[in-house]
Amino acid sequence: MILEEALAVVTQALNHQRLTKVQNIIFRQAWEGKSYIEMGVAFGYDPAYLKDEGAKLWQLLSQACGTKVTKINFPTVLAQYAETQQAQAQQAEANQADAQQEQSILPKISTDSSRRIDWGEAIHVSSFLGRETELATLKYWLLQNHCRLATILGMGGMGKTALSVKLAQQVQFHFERVIWRSLRDAPPLTELLMTLIQFLAPDPDSTLPVTETAQLAYLMDALRANRCLLILDNYEALFQAGQQTGTYRQGYEGYRELLQRIGQGQHQSSLVLTSREKPTVVAALQGENMPVRVLNLAGLPQADAARLLQAKGLSGSAAQVTSLVQSYQGNPLALMITATSIQDLCGGRIDTFLQQQTTVFNGVRNLLQQQINRLSGLETKIMYWIAINREAVTVQELQADLAPFVPMSRLLEAVESLYWRSLIEKTTTGLRSSR
Ligand SMILES: Nc1ncnc2c1ncn2[C@@H]1O[C@H](COP(=O)(O)OP(=O)(O)OP(=O)(O)O)[C@@H](O)[C@H]1O
Ligand SMILES: [Mg+2]
Repeated sequence: MILEEALAVVTQALNHQRLTKVQNIIFRQAWEGKSYIEMGVAFGYDPAYLKDEGAKLWQLLSQACGTKVTKINFPTVLAQYAETQQAQAQQAEANQADAQQEQSILPKISTDSSRRIDWGEAIHVSSFLGRETELATLKYWLLQNHCRLATILGMGGMGKTALSVKLAQQVQFHFERVIWRSLRDAPPLTELLMTLIQFLAPDPDSTLPVTETAQLAYLMDALRANRCLLILDNYEALFQAGQQTGTYRQGYEGYRELLQRIGQGQHQSSLVLTSREKPTVVAALQGENMPVRVLNLAGLPQADAARLLQAKGLSGSAAQVTSLVQSYQGNPLALMITATSIQDLCGGRIDTFLQQQTTVFNGVRNLLQQQINRLSGLETKIMYWIAINREAVTVQELQADLAPFVPMSRLLEAVESLYWRSLIEKTTTGLRSSR
């Protein structure tokens, strides 16, 4: 979105109410990333006055967009707002068409004016490619099956966050409350619960609960009172590195209860998680006929991944593009990082890059290293042997490779753990690395 488009969105959001001269300056300068001091110097205003006026402007936009707007997030929020408006118009059109055919199967969109959305720090996904099947599956789970807990699971960079935002944009009108939060900084449970409660609160005047147990009970009431969609990104941040998958960091064990209550409790809401590692509660509760589901996110299919590389301005034959995409199993982040390296080091030529035969370097190595660093000692050894074997390997072969001897029960636990981290795949002939 460019500045002029953002201003047009503001005009629409404010119902054609015009910004004042100072607000206009603040908006344009903030768009360029300027501080209030820099604006003051450039336009001859007292920075304190600009800050006050800025606060009023963000407040005005918060009311108009129905979500908190700040000097930092306003470009993202306005882009989201524009997409939301567009999606709403399309959805309304689709509903009208459905109504005409008298065969609509989706719940009707919410036209409730008290609908509230808080996108938090959700990324803006303007050039989102493909994922139609995954979106259709997730939408079906949420809207048709009324799943209470859906987890998007996959390796780093696979596109979990992007998919969760896209999903939320597409289903938002079926919920009265939508809140998107990243757990990247591992907020203590009580902090997250307070954020959720304050946003979802069925009764804003009631006294807020203090203990974790009371907060959980309060949250469940809120999830019963309204149809809410909660999206929690980066759930793996709550897990302890170097331990078997699903081991919570000290002090974070309460999150298990949160998932359990939402997954099993009676309410009309849904929680979508994204995670690199599968939470044990999810593993215990998931099932095709259960209200808890897991979507294992694989790489982008060839055609979509090729479009992503094309957008990065790379040049190469179709076969070269295919080879590059396969090297990274369609992982969008790995492809984007590599595309930048190909631009910088090989003048954008895929053939030159492929001749070097090094698919894992620099940024991509860091991406993998981040995940390897989180493994337990036994998991690291297994990854090593799987990499050495190259072909799929059976658990028995692995046991024979490992020294000192590892009992089968421990080995199976570690293999399961790696599978939950999306680092290995189970094939008909055995286990192999997901790369
Ligand atoms: N379908 C897509 N179309 C276009 N770009 C995508 C798509 N999916 C992901 N990307 C881009 O790839 C990058 C990685 O995606 P994203 O951050 O969603 O991955 P992730 O699985 O959440 O990774 P992490 O585990 O590190 O949080 C982002 O820059 C994102 O915009
Ligand atoms: Mg992510």
